[in-house]
Amino acid sequence: MTISTHELQTLAEYFDDDPKRSHSLPARAYVAPDFLEVERQAMFYNSWQYVCHIEKLRHAGDYVTFDLQGQSMVAVRDREGVLRAFYNVCRHRGHELVQGEGNIKVFVCPYHAWGYNLDGTLRGARHSNTMEDFHFDNFGMMPVQVEEFCSMVFVNLNPEAASLAVQSGDLAQEIQQRAPDLGSLTHAHRLTYRVKANWKIVVDNFLECYHCASTHKDLMSLIDIQNYKVTTYDIYSSQISPAGTTSNSAYNVEGATVQEHLLWWLWPNTGLLRYPGGPNWMVWHFIPVDEETTLETFDFFFPNSPPNAGQMEAIEYVDKVLQKEDIDIVESVHRGLKTPVCEKGGRFVVCSGKDQGSSEHGVHHFHGLYLKAIDQYLQTKSQD
Ligand code: FES
Ligand SMILES: [Fe+2]
Repeated sequence: MTISTHELQTLAEYFDDDPKRSHSLPARAYVAPDFLEVERQAMFYNSWQYVCHIEKLRHAGDYVTFDLQGQSMVAVRDREGVLRAFYNVCRHRGHELVQGEGNIKVFVCPYHAWGYNLDGTLRGARHSNTMEDFHFDNFGMMPVQVEEFCSMVFVNLNPEAASLAVQSGDLAQEIQQRAPDLGSLTHAHRLTYRVKANWKIVVDNFLECYHCASTHKDLMSLIDIQNYKVTTYDIYSSQISPAGTTSNSAYNVEGATVQEHLLWWLWPNTGLLRYPGGPNWMVWHFIPVDEETTLETFDFFFPNSPPNAGQMEAIEYVDKVLQKEDIDIVESVHRGLKTPVCEKGGRFVVCSGKDQGSSEHGVHHFHGLYLKAIDQYLQTKSQD
């Protein structure tokens, strides 16, 4: 089964630009098979996708491979110091060029040993002089857009896409103001989860703290929910509140230098966070595996690695308490959305003033971007 154009057009039937009047996305967008293939084309191959912290790609020859929704990719620092990214695929007959991460002088395909310079140009192809009409210039590695953004590396498979710096407006400035030490932090820990819920349910849940009072007892003692601000921008939103100024039941924040709870969401599936405590940074990546499975990777960055006891306490709070609470919610929502109950979508609670922390307008903003991406996809398709 593939999704019909009509099916996609009607997704916006009950959506309104005003979140107070709007329905959320209809349930079928979350649970119907085959949506993910459309989302790959419309979103994941057409947006800035997080790869890693720049620390992995600082020196000439440093490379990192990664999977982008089934596409084998590699990012590399070339001999001239230029950051590049390519499909990790040999132009001879399609073998992957490298695995994992590390440092190399050239790419050598393991299959028949074609060689590529780190700028992607083909440097050697054994016996290629026997081929007719074969030109090295036409057989370099296929490049994709790559960008260093706030000491993080992102790629975009759409060659026409505007740069992340341009698309994201003031996000870099906001991050630099609140996390000026980001470039000096190092990767210290990763938590990984396979969650039985559609990726959009996970993102929806990330984008609101309406559920915090009923779900996250300890988090509520860490943050100041009465001063919790949810703000939406073009392709990102933020949730910021004072936090960690008093003792709480989540983790010890004694001597905290970061006294805010900072969450940014970058369209479509990346969370960037700084928690109260010592210097830290987190990247939460919500990666669809299929329509009912999401791989969540939480990368923790600190001035030191491995994490010390205090940092481990915060990580364990995220892992054993907060994430457990959130996984129970999103998996339950996924089961709920398989029923006919939310066929037309649900609704958004929108609050202001001291209740703004309970507002769901950040989720509405995501759904608006989602529908816009679907619309653009349909327009492109109709021109094909
Ligand atoms: S597939 Fe790479 S050299 Fe043959
Ligand atoms: Fe939550």
